[in-house]
Amino acid sequence: MRKRVTKAIFPVAGLGTRFLPATKSVPKEIMTLVDRPLVQYAIDEARAAGIKEFIFVTSRGKGALEDYFDNAPQLEQELRRKGKTELLELLRSTDMESGEIAYMRQHKPLGLGHAVWCARRLIGNEPFAVILPDDIIAAEKPCLAQMVEAFEKTPGNFVAAMEVPPEKASSYGILDIKEDMGRIVSTKGLVEKPAHGEAPSNLAVIGRYILTPKVLQMLNRKRTGAGGEIQLTDAIADARDAGEEVYGFRFEGQRFDCGSKSGYLQATVAFALARPELRDDLWAFLNDIVHAEKAAQ
Ligand code: UTP
Repeated sequence: MRKRVTKAIFPVAGLGTRFLPATKSVPKEIMTLVDRPLVQYAIDEARAAGIKEFIFVTSRGKGALEDYFDNAPQLEQELRRKGKTELLELLRSTDMESGEIAYMRQHKPLGLGHAVWCARRLIGNEPFAVILPDDIIAAEKPCLAQMVEAFEKTPGNFVAAMEVPPEKASSYGILDIKEDMGRIVSTKGLVEKPAHGEAPSNLAVIGRYILTPKVLQMLNRKRTGAGGEIQLTDAIADARDAGEEVYGFRFEGQRFDCGSKSGYLQATVAFALARPELRDDLWAFLNDIVHAEKAAQ
């Protein structure tokens, strides 16, 4: 019987240097889009894809993230006392059941591949998902659910993929395409952060994966790659070389790189404009800015 994907790893042990000084004390994943932390979007997306076990790979200084998933009895009591039932419901909708969330510590930031490897014993011998919470994807059907559907039809490793301009390819893992079948692309291999002009395609890996235990085996080698880090892309490429299928999956939706300031700001505007109670005010404000800018030119 084919195994279902019920476990997801959320690697959140990175240093988040692009958001210093804020990330001195605030984990990047707790930063909000409007009023929900990035990590809440990731949890919601995983749940919608049928994930039952949520494994966080954390590090020093990420206490606020663990606290976020605890129940808040005092706050609940106060909201109940004040009759604020809507807020109470909102709060409860973010509760995690005891036992469905686990934390694993990555003691040194040795790379994304190493962070995933840290969770290996909680995964065992079954396919699993990886979600990078700083990649936010706005989509009608959540991205991971789209990928799980594809995986159930065609077993193998799946990486979310997106076309990027050639000059940006060296910032991503890039697919070496074997056959382009439209939504799904079979690969000959993957290259993490290729040198300028050496990318095998312009199809880049972004932060959603469905992987087989073979990738964990490959991570056991602890091979360092681009930037002196243990790269997840390299382990996926090694699994490909060992005969496993690796598919790129062109998801439907808009991806925001919330690990970068510009992507985070764009996501904030897009998510705020999608909220009926905020839309009109924000729209008027943006229009004013655009008009003032044009008038000044
Ligand atoms: P990034 O490349 O965005 O690095 O990591 P970062 O440390 O989060 O941020 P910057 O570049 O310093 O601003 C991609 C993902 O991999 C995780 C990060 O938490 C993020 O989700 N990661 C990275 C780890 O969990 N451990 C690592 O050693 C490295």
